[in-house]
Amino acid sequence: MIYPIVIFGSETLRKPSVELTPDYPELPKLIEDMFLTMSSAEGVGLAAPQIGKNIRLFVVDCSPWAEDDPACQDFRRAFINPEIYEVSEQTDLFNEGCLSLPGLHEDVRRPVAIRMRYLDEQFVEHDEEFDGYRARVIQHEYDHLEGKVFTDRLSPLRRQLLKSKLLGMAKGKYRAAYKTK
Ligand code: NI
Repeated sequence: MIYPIVIFGSETLRKPSVELTPDYPELPKLIEDMFLTMSSAEGVGLAAPQIGKNIRLFVVDCSPWAEDDPACQDFRRAFINPEIYEVSEQTDLFNEGCLSLPGLHEDVRRPVAIRMRYLDEQFVEHDEEFDGYRARVIQHEYDHLEGKVFTDRLSPLRRQLLKSKLLGMAKGKYRAAYKTK
């Protein structure tokens, strides 16, 4: 099933998410549906809070960027209970968007590389380093689990300039080519 996507202004996007346990009901189906929801909305990442579930789970599919970054080839994964425990000092800017903030794109500064522990769909533990586009998407989705969205990372001045747009969005003034709620 394709889930409607929760839009900025909803409390769900602001609540920190809780850890997942292996007995979570129908987890494989949920993950499959998250991939489906993400691809039908043409997203490269989707976090569980964006479909109304405050659990520590997100899916990523970087393959649309494979031409620019070979590491993105077939990079299609689910991440459970992730923990970013190290970030690079070096940062860069990247123009981000979010399915929960339709129509908004802003340059966001983030570390270029991260180290992260996480569980895969089979609850096998991994400890891995990511950089480039993969690190970018992962950090964006990880923020959702912490109750953050990318506009939180903009300068106070930039946020001030976007204030009325964001307020409008929260009140339903937006256009999206996918189901929202
Ligand atoms: Ni997002």
